[in-house]
Amino acid sequence: MSILFTPLKIGSISVPNRFVRSATHEYMADDEGNVTDNEVELYRRLAEGEVGLIISGHAFVQPSGKASPRQTAVYDDRFVEGLARIPAAVHGYSSLVFLQIAHAGRQTKERLCACIPVSPSAVYDPVSKVMPRELRGEEIRALITDFVAAAGRAKRAGFDGVQLHAAHGYLISSFLSPHTNRRTDEWGGPVEKRARVLIDVLRGVKAACGTAFPVIVKLNSTDFLDGGLTVDDAVRIARMLEAEGIDAIEVSGGMAEAGRGSVWPGLRSEADEGYFAENAARIKKAVKVPVFALGGIRTLAVAEKIVEEGRADLISLSRPLIRDPFLVKHFREGLTTKSECISCNKCFYPRGIRCAELTKKR
Ligand SMILES: Cc1cc2nc3c(=O)[nH]c(=O)nc-3n(C[C@H](O)[C@H](O)[C@H](O)COP(=O)(O)O)c2cc1C
Ligand code: SF4
Repeated sequence: MSILFTPLKIGSISVPNRFVRSATHEYMADDEGNVTDNEVELYRRLAEGEVGLIISGHAFVQPSGKASPRQTAVYDDRFVEGLARIPAAVHGYSSLVFLQIAHAGRQTKERLCACIPVSPSAVYDPVSKVMPRELRGEEIRALITDFVAAAGRAKRAGFDGVQLHAAHGYLISSFLSPHTNRRTDEWGGPVEKRARVLIDVLRGVKAACGTAFPVIVKLNSTDFLDGGLTVDDAVRIARMLEAEGIDAIEVSGGMAEAGRGSVWPGLRSEADEGYFAENAARIKKAVKVPVFALGGIRTLAVAEKIVEEGRADLISLSRPLIRDPFLVKHFREGLTTKSECISCNKCFYPRGIRCAELTKKR
């Protein structure tokens, strides 16, 4: 049997296979951020399709952290009842589901977050064309409290764990990056201080939800920016996180400002697949907790090789599961060809993610 269909423990829980649905914003919540029927059905189908661990799209922990229209909210207790519908649907199958909790930081617009976007430092973002406001010390402490409260809501809603979004230039990632974090107080400077927000959130969640409640992180391994976060920084952060009880690390990269995010278009050959897998391998060498490889993985054999060679323990997929939520089941049943996703990136559809290529064919 392929190693990809063997279980693996993440902290206190066992994932039935090595496939992870990487967090994918659904564009399906209502205007307030409440979970909708379409969203519940999306997660039910991923579970029916046998994805071992499903990670939700990023849910915002403060109103100022809203990144996008139709994004799911987790900043208030009133969202718990709706959120609970997702694990309830998933748990009809053997899959597990984590809520990804996030704050957009400066990668949003005033009209979306109804505020001047915030950041560790006032560094202009040429992509969102935003000059953010630097967070004050007491606001940083409130941010940590709000991440912890959001994790508590996820637990109450029945999610099996949470993923802290510390990638792609969003707020926690922008604290980690020396490009966007130019602070000289206790939240900026050397990597240990830049990682303090993330570490304090992790400590807070473990204290509030109990050490058995799994907390994992999606970590940038590079910003692709001169003066940005490097893979050496990421390795050090990974070690710090492990020392504080993180249960697993998903290795990603990119920042909108760099013109290179995490969703690379135009992947053609097997050599293009797994574009963050080498960085995952660097981190895997440094820690004992499970590591997820990510980025353009389309072929079963490529996924298998990454795990067999010990470069990562689990395989994360986003677009292939938009294309076909049953891909993992098809792989288990013997599909040997690759995902039909052509990495055209036309699935970012503001009325709900869907594969544009597939709709074209119908
Ligand atoms: C439509 C769409 C929405 C995404 N939303 C998120 C998100 O909410 N949080 C996140 O961390 N990554 C998000 N991503 C990035 C994916 O999780 C993944 O890192 C990236 O697409 C590379 O994996 P892939 O080649 O398997 O698609 C999104 C990607 C897509 C295509
Ligand atoms: S639109 Fe379809 S084929 Fe294109 S990247 Fe998205 S899932 Fe893949």
